[in-house]
Amino acid sequence: MDGIPREDHELSQTYLTFAKNEAAGQSTVYFALSSGIAYDPVLLGLIGELPLLKRQPNLVLAAARWHGAPLESYVDFARFVADHWAEVSQTILARSTQTNEPARCATLLPLLAQLPQPLALIEVGASAGLCLYPDRYAYSYSGTRLGDASVVFPCVTDGAVPDALPQITWRAGLDLNPLDVRDSQAMAWLENLVWPGQDERVARLRQAIDIVRADPPRILKGDLLTDLDGLIAQAPRDATVVVFHTAVLAYVSPADREVFREKMSALKGHWISNEAPSVLGDSPAPGKFVLSLDGTPVAHTGPHGQAIHWL
Ligand SMILES: C[S@@+](CC[C@H](N)C(=O)[O-])C[C@H]1O[C@@H](n2cnc3c(N)ncnc32)[C@H](O)[C@@H]1O
Repeated sequence: MDGIPREDHELSQTYLTFAKNEAAGQSTVYFALSSGIAYDPVLLGLIGELPLLKRQPNLVLAAARWHGAPLESYVDFARFVADHWAEVSQTILARSTQTNEPARCATLLPLLAQLPQPLALIEVGASAGLCLYPDRYAYSYSGTRLGDASVVFPCVTDGAVPDALPQITWRAGLDLNPLDVRDSQAMAWLENLVWPGQDERVARLRQAIDIVRADPPRILKGDLLTDLDGLIAQAPRDATVVVFHTAVLAYVSPADREVFREKMSALKGHWISNEAPSVLGDSPAPGKFVLSLDGTPVAHTGPHGQAIHWL
């Protein structure tokens, strides 16, 4: 994922790449602010003192917003962040980018719908578990509606539209730091992680949280490498086990990604991965995720679930 700091990347380059490949066309505010930071020695100096993964543009910008940084002018923003660095950096250290984007279900759904039903869904890196409910939302695939829920996720696709929602009889998640949909502060942080200007995303996020709050998921605190087997063992035998993850493996070291891939190749069930191309060594597709089924790439997807382009 662009915008994840790396030892072999200049910090200014991380902010520029985030601006160009992630924020451009999605949030003019984040594009301007991350481009500004890329050329600002004062903020680069402060951010550069943080542990590597905490230098992430998405996290730094979200923490600044959390403390009320003005977003309209880069000069005012930079002054605010420098003046309030003690509080902002505390939030950066205490929280992480657990962005939970239920719209990503729109990109998972066509694959889920083609597997033998019913399904036992296991999400690794589940955050608050909003992506564990693809059967409870509605979708508009290039204008064709599927489902009758109040929240509708629009998705542009060049392929056939699934004709039914999947049947999910069991679901569970795993996360280093599970978020509870009933915790209003945690949900406020999730909302704060949606980029400025994306008001429709915020509205849909709130609707999805309401749906999930009525029947909260079970999310175990644990690591995807060490704690997944125990969860898989609990899945009912009469359902197809599907282990999936979206926007998670970028936070895992390259060596551990390979161990995880090996584990998934031996899975009795199916493995769905929706990650930035570089994460599992797929061909570059700037600004897109790669959707794979059992290790084979099948589509490029909008990182926030807004599009599917079948390969
Ligand atoms: C960017 S969020 C994505 C959440 C959700 N999958 C989605 O697409 O909306 C990444 C999540 O992965 C979790 N995570 C990162 N590394 C993990 C690991 N090694 N094991 C389990 N969860 C992990 C983080 O805590 C965070 O909640």
